[in-house]
Amino acid sequence: MVEQPLDPLAPAGYDLVLQQLVPGYASLARLAVALLAVGPLAGETGADVLVAGCGTGAELLEAVAQRPDWRLTAIDPSAAMLQVAQGRLRHAPAIEWRCSTAESLQESGRFAGALSVLVLQSLPDDGSKLAFLTALAQSLRPGGQLVLVDLMRSSLSGLGEQVERAWLGFQRASGLTATAEQLAPLTQALHPIGAARLTALVNAAGFSDPARIFQALDVEGFLLQRRR
Ligand SMILES: C[S@@+](CC[C@H](N)C(=O)[O-])C[C@H]1O[C@@H](n2cnc3c(N)ncnc32)[C@H](O)[C@@H]1O
Repeated sequence: MVEQPLDPLAPAGYDLVLQQLVPGYASLARLAVALLAVGPLAGETGADVLVAGCGTGAELLEAVAQRPDWRLTAIDPSAAMLQVAQGRLRHAPAIEWRCSTAESLQESGRFAGALSVLVLQSLPDDGSKLAFLTALAQSLRPGGQLVLVDLMRSSLSGLGEQVERAWLGFQRASGLTATAEQLAPLTQALHPIGAARLTALVNAAGFSDPARIFQALDVEGFLLQRRR
């Protein structure tokens, strides 16, 4: 049998490529769900939880495994990504699927918690990031929590070159074989921001200050709470 080369851009090959590309990716969804599950909605059965930018379903698989009682709403503007996620979660309890951006959600105070992993980074800081965060804040009830994970502008000052080389070393050791050209849609057109700018944006959107709960090189995770 001739082995087909992995297409890093095909949603089906996406998970493996992200694990090889992004340090900590294999743990991100598990950690994000574990954190949300022990927050204010820990004792609540059947809580409404939003997964914004669900991609191929990593956070959904974890949520179903850790909290099968949650009522999940999964949104993503990419029909191709949603199709892969729906296939992987075909045996899961009912999930509400929406092919849309978070900005067009139009939900007010419905969700007890939300997850957004590696989504904000793709939006430019021209009002788009603020619109995304504002929609998430408005969709949460007061006190509701969001776990946000994103590529950040490096906070490891003075270590720039070492961090850059460590990314490459991590990717090589993980067996990443895709070329820079093949990876361009995943690695280019990203708009990382620093921690101070993130704090300003999430405050303007209606969240408390972000609390950092994860960092692997420049990939950082934060816990945010909608202000009461
Ligand atoms: C890098 S992927 C991450 C997917 C998944 N969260 C994961 O960690 O595997 C980013 C996803 O965000 C989606 N996305 C981009 N802009 C979005 C928006 N404005 N609202 C919701 N999802 C968005 C993309 O279609 C893509 O599936």
